[in-house]
Amino acid sequence: MRIIAISNNKGGVGKTTSTVNIAASLSILNKKVLVIDIDHQAQATYHLGINPKDLQYSIFELLKGEITYNDLLIDRNGIYLLPAKPDLKDLDFLPFPAKEFLLRDAMEKINDFDYVLIDCPPSLGILTLNALTYAKEIFIPLQLQFLPFHGMYNLFEGVQMVKQRLNKSLEITGIIGTMYSSTKTINKEVLDETESRLPGKLFNTIIRENVSLQEAPSWGKTIFEYKSDSNGAVDYMNLTKEIIARYENQ
Ligand SMILES: Nc1ncnc2c1ncn2[C@@H]1O[C@H](COP(=O)(O)OP(=O)(O)OP(=O)(O)O)[C@@H](O)[C@H]1O
Ligand SMILES: [Mg+2]
Repeated sequence: MRIIAISNNKGGVGKTTSTVNIAASLSILNKKVLVIDIDHQAQATYHLGINPKDLQYSIFELLKGEITYNDLLIDRNGIYLLPAKPDLKDLDFLPFPAKEFLLRDAMEKINDFDYVLIDCPPSLGILTLNALTYAKEIFIPLQLQFLPFHGMYNLFEGVQMVKQRLNKSLEITGIIGTMYSSTKTINKEVLDETESRLPGKLFNTIIRENVSLQEAPSWGKTIFEYKSDSNGAVDYMNLTKEIIARYENQ
């Protein structure tokens, strides 16, 4: 099972969009995929067309050990989901010891997926730490601008800390360039800078700016359900083929 946290402490860089549409691509390519929404904004849950208000439980109850994995799992047209609700933010106040390990413990017996993708919130708080303690890999969506590029170095420090104290086997295995526009010189500059400073980390497929990617969440649809011939669909499918190939060729 490849367990991948989609993480960046910077907000609005394309974490949720990437999680949902890579999951959709994997599912189209006949991979069995689970999305874990560990963001109290519940964006991946909404994006997959599920209103958190309609849910009795969320991953919060699973982490607390009040329900089982099977109580929570949703099969959403072949993409499996462990959904979030806003109450997840209360994990901060829960008087449990070693709270970083709650997700890993809850998922201990689960091994029947090809891919597990975890949509992280934009911080390095306890929710992200749960994701990074359980995951084996991190993909970092990088919005191709000056400040997000430099902000990524804070994340590297966080990952180093997690590796030392919580999860030795964690590796940053890919950086996803997002919201690329050929008319913006800065986008190209940041791409070149990323490639030269972090060789081999950037996926060749860059996700272009695409309005359909923005619209799809409001319909609760993946990009393939919303507009399968859009640049967004083409880019996420190409990226996913690369994700699969990079791993299988190792
Ligand atoms: N390639 C793209 N082209 C155009 N818009 C995009 C693209 N990718 C994402 N967006 C839009 O940018 C916004 C932020 O994307 P998204 O929600 O995926 O980021 P995020 O990193 O998950 O945010 P947060 O940190 O709040 O969780 C959303 O409105 C999304 O629809
Ligand atoms: Mg998000």
